[in-house]
Amino acid sequence: MIIAIDGPAGSGKSTVAREVAKILGFHYLDTGAMYRAVSWLALERGIALDDAEALGDLAASERIEFAHEEGNPIATGVSIAGNDVTDAIRTPEIDKAVTPVSATPSVREALVEQQRAIAASDDIVMEGRDIGTVVFPDAEVKIFLTADADERARRRSNQNLTQGYGETDTEAILADLKRRDEADSTRAVAPLKPAPGAVEVDTTSLSIEQVCKCITDIVDSVR
Ligand code: DC
Repeated sequence: MIIAIDGPAGSGKSTVAREVAKILGFHYLDTGAMYRAVSWLALERGIALDDAEALGDLAASERIEFAHEEGNPIATGVSIAGNDVTDAIRTPEIDKAVTPVSATPSVREALVEQQRAIAASDDIVMEGRDIGTVVFPDAEVKIFLTADADERARRRSNQNLTQGYGETDTEAILADLKRRDEADSTRAVAPLKPAPGAVEVDTTSLSIEQVCKCITDIVDSVR
């Protein structure tokens, strides 16, 4: 079974998708981490962020790997071309670079192919912006999470504080979230929008447990 969870930054996707995967014993894939990893490598190699051909080649040729602890299907780290970039992909610099990189059609083509291959043999919860619209339009369960921008900025700030990396100033985060919302929703290729048939859940005043329960109830209803 494939559970597609899409939504804007800070809507609770990662936390909820991980938790739902844990509850159900499914695998989990953070597709945003893949776009971030390609962005990191592009900056590292000095590739111009408007060089679509070079970016596409990079995404198609360099291996992205997720590190797993024994018996835990939730990845604990991500690497690209042999570099562990788990922390490095969460910086404000990458928050900016990922916008042009993820708007590049050839990059999306290469990463969508990898995402489909990863899901080929397992039950999986996959989160991103285009999982229900492009990657798996036939997913059995499609969820679109939203939340007020202020609440999303507050959550991201708390998350970065806890994790010890990334921007923590709420105002700076809010400005960046709004910039990314606008860019992700208006880009020509795979824009962020609810998939046909997706259940929209506004998480602003819901706890993580409530959102997870809502999703696992939907899963139970289609099983
Ligand atoms: O989920 P995230 O904030 O880590 O994602 C980083 C960026 O990658 C986000 O601004 C949009 C892009 N992205 C995308 O275009 N498609 C996806 N499936 C996942 C992320």
